[in-house]
Amino acid sequence: MSAEALAIDGGAPVRAKFLPVALPSVGEAEKQAVLETLESGWVTTGPKAIELGRRIAAHSGAAHGLAVNSATGALHLALLAWGIGPGDEVITSTWTFASTANVVLHTGATLVLVDVDPKTLNLDPARVEAAITPRTKAVIAVDFAGQPADYDVLRPLCDRHGLKLLADAAHSFGARWNDRPVGTLADATAFSFYAIKNITTGEGGCLVTGDQPFLERAQVLSLHGISKDAWKRYSSAGAWYYEVTVPGFKYNLTDLAAALGLAQLERWPEFDARRGAIARRYDERLAELDLLARPYADPRAHHAWHLYTVRLDLERLTVDRARFLELLKAENIGTTVNFIPVHKHPYYRDALGFRPDDFPVAERVYPAIFTLPIYPRMTDADVDDVVAALVKVFAHTKR
Ligand SMILES: Cc1ncc(COP(=O)(O)O)c(C=O)c1O
Repeated sequence: MSAEALAIDGGAPVRAKFLPVALPSVGEAEKQAVLETLESGWVTTGPKAIELGRRIAAHSGAAHGLAVNSATGALHLALLAWGIGPGDEVITSTWTFASTANVVLHTGATLVLVDVDPKTLNLDPARVEAAITPRTKAVIAVDFAGQPADYDVLRPLCDRHGLKLLADAAHSFGARWNDRPVGTLADATAFSFYAIKNITTGEGGCLVTGDQPFLERAQVLSLHGISKDAWKRYSSAGAWYYEVTVPGFKYNLTDLAAALGLAQLERWPEFDARRGAIARRYDERLAELDLLARPYADPRAHHAWHLYTVRLDLERLTVDRARFLELLKAENIGTTVNFIPVHKHPYYRDALGFRPDDFPVAERVYPAIFTLPIYPRMTDADVDDVVAALVKVFAHTKR
């Protein structure tokens, strides 16, 4: 046993100050952009939000983009704009955040959850194919941790069966697959700009696509169902008269948030490079730790490194994952778990009847996985503190 006592037992923690698992990077340029928008008098949806949609589309190789107030909204709008509803089935991954599954239910369609590839934790295309029925209308691929799903297989599979392919790219803004940007790999793609995502608007997201009529339907649905350019009705270009053509939603992004997003987008190359460098440093420093498996990065991917997830070799440890994370927290290292598989949450288990036996990979990986801190503001010394804390905790918990 190591001479150094664990912090939880009264020893000195590896670092004095708590290192959160995720933090946004917001600087002077962002503050200035938000201030200017505040002073412009146009704070809600307007020219900045339109501009952000355009810029995000251009950045991700798509022809059209609609900035909205969350990835959840973008996913929901996509399904609705394809006319998906009661009687239809939508297939997605159990390895995701609840919103991917919830939006399917909000359309009235049937949610079909499938298991994942054990290496990437992205959709297993063979399981997707096995789940297709005559009622299937769409597949939602989730780019877990910032690594694109296997679109080489999913794209032709969806084409063969006449299915829409929606990318839940909440984690993968700026990622590429075979050098093609996320944004060009599916019929439509939903990005998240939530507080800790690769770029942020506080809360926000964007739907991008090459299909203009589809995006126009999504746009109408995003603002109460008011016919085109609803936001202009308070400007000199607008008029008081409008028509509601469908009962829509309130998914529009404010210009305040969009101004923040436009400034963040300028900094994306810096953010992307830093996330990649942190992942490489973890890869190098953790290579020696055989009680922990590092994340698999497919050589076809430019990984966005939204998350850096590792897996414990529980059979060789005296503690479970929950205790291990408690010990790390006492050493002042923040962690989290991505994800609690959707099928394990009470609603999906009890009301929808999903069963663990149908998800052998997710069931096996879930007890062992957790997420280490990764964000551009982290220094190399922060990364080394995380590694030092892991080494210390392993010294006290290995069998
Ligand atoms: C995989 C995935 N999909 C969708 C979302 C929803 O994103 P938002 O918070 O922008 O609605 C998240 C949020 O973390 C996510 O992780």
